[in-house]
Amino acid sequence: MTNLILLAGMILLMWSGVRAMAAEGEGQRSVFEISTARSMITFAVGSDHRLYQLGYGSRQKKPEIPEKLPMPAYDGAAERLSEVYPSFGNGYLLEPALHVTHADGDTSTDLKYVSHTVTEDAGIATTRIELKDPKHPFQVTLVYRAYVELDIIEQFTEIRHDESRAVTMHRYASASPVFRAKSYWLTQLQGYHMREAGLVEEKLTPGVKLLDSKLGVRAHQIRTPGFFLSLDQSANEESGEVFAGSLAWAGSYAFAFDLDFNNGLRAVCGINPHGSQYHLQPGRTFTTPAMIWAWSDRGKGQISRNFHRWARQYSLRESHKPRPVLLNNWEATFFNFDEAKLVSLLDGAREIGSDVFLLDDGWFGRKYPRNDDRQGLGDWMVNEKKLPHGLSYLVEQSKQRGIDFGIWVEPEMVSPKSELYEAHPDWALQQTGREMILGRWQRVLDLNRPEVKEFVFNVIDKTLKDAPGTRYVKWDCNAYALQPGSTWLKPEEQSHALVDYQFAVYDVMRKVVEAHPDVMMMLCSSGPARSDFASLKNFHSFWASDNTDPLKRVFIQWGFSHFYPAQSMNAHVTDFGHRPLKFACDVALSGAFGVDMDLSKRSDEERKQLAKTIKLYKEVLRDLIAEADLYRVESPYDHPRSVIQYVAQDRTASVVFVYQVKNAESGPVCLKGLDSGRRYRVTELNLPEGTKSSLKENGQVVDGKSLMDSGILPPCNQELQSVVIHLRAE
Ligand code: DGJ
Repeated sequence: MTNLILLAGMILLMWSGVRAMAAEGEGQRSVFEISTARSMITFAVGSDHRLYQLGYGSRQKKPEIPEKLPMPAYDGAAERLSEVYPSFGNGYLLEPALHVTHADGDTSTDLKYVSHTVTEDAGIATTRIELKDPKHPFQVTLVYRAYVELDIIEQFTEIRHDESRAVTMHRYASASPVFRAKSYWLTQLQGYHMREAGLVEEKLTPGVKLLDSKLGVRAHQIRTPGFFLSLDQSANEESGEVFAGSLAWAGSYAFAFDLDFNNGLRAVCGINPHGSQYHLQPGRTFTTPAMIWAWSDRGKGQISRNFHRWARQYSLRESHKPRPVLLNNWEATFFNFDEAKLVSLLDGAREIGSDVFLLDDGWFGRKYPRNDDRQGLGDWMVNEKKLPHGLSYLVEQSKQRGIDFGIWVEPEMVSPKSELYEAHPDWALQQTGREMILGRWQRVLDLNRPEVKEFVFNVIDKTLKDAPGTRYVKWDCNAYALQPGSTWLKPEEQSHALVDYQFAVYDVMRKVVEAHPDVMMMLCSSGPARSDFASLKNFHSFWASDNTDPLKRVFIQWGFSHFYPAQSMNAHVTDFGHRPLKFACDVALSGAFGVDMDLSKRSDEERKQLAKTIKLYKEVLRDLIAEADLYRVESPYDHPRSVIQYVAQDRTASVVFVYQVKNAESGPVCLKGLDSGRRYRVTELNLPEGTKSSLKENGQVVDGKSLMDSGILPPCNQELQSVVIHLRAE
């Protein structure tokens, strides 16, 4: 039945562009669109048979369609500016999307429109546009998946050929749309380890602005693989035309923003061409990673809400599953633990109501026990000195306390001081004949090698099988590709090393999910240095930063919220910064809540407060936040407090988090997204034992209109105070 409905819903349109252009009176057919509910990309085929973009933006503002169709052949660089997928060497003189050396040495490519098809299925319209080089048997397919209701378009490119031998691809972008406005404002999420996802906005000036990563592995350490672009004004939460893009790729990437002499802006987005020349063999298809585009004329807030809804439906693993409350031992013990210590942590975990106990780094290694970060990676056998009864004992001890057991692994890495490295020095990415360069005392394993790929899968598979009942994995990845050479690849394929590495990582991730569908997984890489939508398909959440100081986390979580939904961001209460426990708890409550503490060192009162917070999280907030729309009401960048609000999609409930980041009095907070026709009961949550709310409206029923127009005054004005306010429609 479902199949029948799907079949019935399938519309297939196809025509030959060449025929369309040749036929008298069929000029309109050389113009076509890809639409979502509110946005639209309009294409036109020129009489030179090249494909041009007439516009991308609101459906209300249709671009001007040239009177004469097909459009006259364009000559000269200026008019070629809006070519959809411009290639190097055929008269296009700006930043190209494609640059190829063909089998015969020809460095030019010219892509002509051949045809396009549209299929629709369950709210997703897929358009495939075929382009071909008239001189070479070389084809490009531009694929667009329009998620109609969400105003999101996923775009990627397939490249293939039947030339006599390999062609060399120097640049092979996923997408290169053109934007037209008077001015362009670009926002990136920039930072470094411990200070990730800082918002940086700038007005673009002529020339090429490059946002990229060359880190290869752990590639998002300095910059998240996404950006916001607002037209004609700096980006607002509530208003203005804004685009955003996110590349679903864990490796090095490049976004080149080319603001040309005509004030048109092209964004060439994809795998970083730097060091990534790819020799594509005849008959093979190279599929680029997908670029996820979002558009809104209602500001950045709407874009984020659309990204969150999209991620939950299509790109975050099992978003419907409640994220468990973890108790992680990393900040509680670092490498310094034994079995008795872990069992004592388990007691604390039970007392506060954690769902999972997660054993972090330091549990393995024999000849080179992992007692610090200088050795042992690769030797995934239990360190029996620390854990004489193995991991199964900890699984059992956890079970006895009604808790699931979880384990940390870093399967793609090797310490030179390890038995693995002694046996297989050629398994690491390296440049033969050069001095070894280490990052965190370790090297990256070469996943281009089939046996290494198998090994990496087995690390996780075997760890889980040896300790049956393990229910959670934290997959870490802590070194850059500092020497991206492979002893496996042929000399002429060395520049494939990092590209194929990523495809291999995705294969292994998928294989682990298939083999262990019931095990939940956290994506980690020195915090969030791997945090892309393609990886997240296999993970339930990512570790948003090693910086767990809640004051810093307010900013970090604010930044990541631009792309990622709350339940995908692990947020733990720790001792970091020695902040008030209530503040630390309230900040963690707006993500996937967890704790990373030795609770035996905390007072009874503090343990009770944590237990109360976890109960509240599980009973009231977790499900609400997991499906809600996010409103960023006041930015900590511009205000002395940060205010974020989650509103249930049916607007019957909402929760408001207020985090004071500086001492200052502020006025009322005008809430967002509520139903102005409804009345809401207002309740302040998570008050420490024995304290009373000083929120004026606490316990009262207030109408949605007044909450949005006049607002409520949160009772806080000192740095590190916080307030959590719940609204329930009566
Ligand atoms: C880096 C991660 O971000 C931390 O949470 C922790 O797991 C360490 N690695 C362990 O080495």
